[in-house]
Amino acid sequence: MLELKNIKKDYFTDHTIVQHVLHGIDLTINDGDFFAIMGPSGSGKSTLMNIVWLLDTPTSGEYILDGIELPDMSENEKARLRSQKIWFVFQAYNLIPRMKVIDQVALPLFYQGVSKWKEYERAIAALEKVGLAHKIDRNPNQLSWWEQQRVAIARAIVTNPSLILADEPTGNLDTKTSNEIMNIFTKLNKEWKTIVMVTHESDIAKYAKHNIHIRDGLIEKFTIDGKEKDKKHAVKR
Ligand SMILES: Nc1ncnc2c1ncn2[C@@H]1O[C@H](COP(=O)(O)OP(=O)(O)OP(=O)(O)O)[C@@H](O)[C@H]1O
Ligand SMILES: [Mg+2]
Repeated sequence: MLELKNIKKDYFTDHTIVQHVLHGIDLTINDGDFFAIMGPSGSGKSTLMNIVWLLDTPTSGEYILDGIELPDMSENEKARLRSQKIWFVFQAYNLIPRMKVIDQVALPLFYQGVSKWKEYERAIAALEKVGLAHKIDRNPNQLSWWEQQRVAIARAIVTNPSLILADEPTGNLDTKTSNEIMNIFTKLNKEWKTIVMVTHESDIAKYAKHNIHIRDGLIEKFTIDGKEKDKKHAVKR
């Protein structure tokens, strides 16, 4: 599905290098994989996610997504891939305050020119997957925090993306709710969705099939099913 080769990212201010954030990340993610990215604060996890999401471009290195190399992608193509193929699970505070759940979830389809009828049909199907089909006409402020988080997930999966990215999806949630979110992710992964999530918590990372530990902008450890692997496995498996 996607391949990162020697990805480096520096942040510049006035042409002076301020910070080398990613020092050469090599990683292959295959269809159906479920990755958890771990690492200390400031190690470059969100930076890496933004590159995978095509929101940010690496300073150097190669990024190949579905056989297309990043430099060859036009802004239009990036926007198309972002809206159809990849979806980013934002935290629930990104919900629109006075919009009904169903409209909220159907919104990404509006940008794809799906008919109104189909929009609702697919929004309801997505809400069913997260167990919230009975609350379609509520506004976010009438829902619990956990329900809001599920609306955010339904909105992420309504376009049927093949790659789901999530940066700390369980941040600020209690253990029970976090586990429920992970159960939804596990179910989606069984339906052959590829998932890449960032988490600080090792209990949450256990739900993923693969764990990557990033430190100072480099992959320091790679584990599959709890077994530590040579970093080369991050590239060729
Ligand atoms: N736009 C930017 N300009 C300059 N420096 C940046 C920018 N974005 C991130 N950084 C720096 O890059 C480093 C890595 O940031 P990043 O957000 O990727 O870390 P992270 O691993 O996601 O951390 P956290 O666990 O706290 O979310 C940090 O030192 C941060 O200050
Ligand atoms: Mg981060």
